[in-house]
Amino acid sequence: MTGKIKGTGSYRPVQVWDNDNLSHMMDTSDEWIRGRTGIRQRHIAGQEETVAYMAARAAEKALTDAGMWPEQIDLILVSTMSAERIMPCTACEVQKLIGAVNATCFDLNGACTGFLLALNTAQAYLGQQIYHRALVIGAEALSHLTNWQDRSTCVLFGDGAGAVILENEESAVYIQATHSMGNGGESLTCASRNRPEFTETRADLSSTYMQMDGKEVFKFAVSKVPEVILEVLEKAGKTKEEIRYYMLHQANQRIVSSVAKHMKEPLEKFPMNIENLGNTSSASIPLLLDEWNKKGELKAGDWVVLSGFGGGLTYGASLLQW
Ligand code: COA
Repeated sequence: MTGKIKGTGSYRPVQVWDNDNLSHMMDTSDEWIRGRTGIRQRHIAGQEETVAYMAARAAEKALTDAGMWPEQIDLILVSTMSAERIMPCTACEVQKLIGAVNATCFDLNGACTGFLLALNTAQAYLGQQIYHRALVIGAEALSHLTNWQDRSTCVLFGDGAGAVILENEESAVYIQATHSMGNGGESLTCASRNRPEFTETRADLSSTYMQMDGKEVFKFAVSKVPEVILEVLEKAGKTKEEIRYYMLHQANQRIVSSVAKHMKEPLEKFPMNIENLGNTSSASIPLLLDEWNKKGELKAGDWVVLSGFGGGLTYGASLLQW
């Protein structure tokens, strides 16, 4: 018994900043950002658009898509590293906002691999038949964790949320592989502000924004993502030819293209929407899934590989049948 995706939903904040907006704020250009990353614009959450709010809006759309009521959900998992509140967890806030009164709720932080890890966690509960219907959400307001003085990172990120509904089905297939490399963790960091030196003094806050060794992270992604995708295909006994889509975390168009090249697979099998959204961390895979689902690009029976990678360092891939 495994969960099958029955519905998807997403939320994009109203405010959009394109590269030209950023070039008025700092020494950068549309040409540089587009050339290095493929990003043209990103959505930036307003004050009312909290992580819980965005997550709840995405969840409501996923419920509508699945034709389910909130009361039917018995597990809510939210993957986030940018929630405004540590407690209550965002999943409990979503429960309150959508009225999913029967659900058990908790959050999980796996940085940009977080949505995949949350999906794996939900599948483990469903596989054991502890729960039968799960709502899994990736939601981020990365603009709160972005140092707007640091042009090498701030141009990359955006805000948003995506959600999927899983329901147990006898014939569903879900196979996953994940890895963590704690030794490489210093290449992508963001310190918590919840420490005395930050709250009691006017200490330098720069470490409490995302900091990154871009070249190291790039090398890590282009070597490990193809590896873990091939690992999951081998586990499943599937060939590359059988895969309809590889849906990768949207960190950089050049990373996605390089993975496709490495795997000798056509780029058309790697959907991308980073151009419009930037890197939304754990929201990126469900945002992409929802976009392709709503465009009618996913057909029943299609084999789809999801792959996430990022802070930790962490990475993984999952195979599912649509
Ligand atoms: N606008 C204009 N110039 C910029 C800039 C910006 N926003 N950011 C950096 N630069 C400059 C640098 O100062 C440097 O100038 P210099 O040559 O005069 O020193 C030059 O551009 C090259 O910088 P570099 O950092 O070497 O660029 P890069 O080719 O490595 O590209 C990234 C930078 C961040 C786009 C790239 O490393 C990357 O995508 N890494 C992966 C990041 C990622 O995906 N992280 C999230 C994973 S979940």
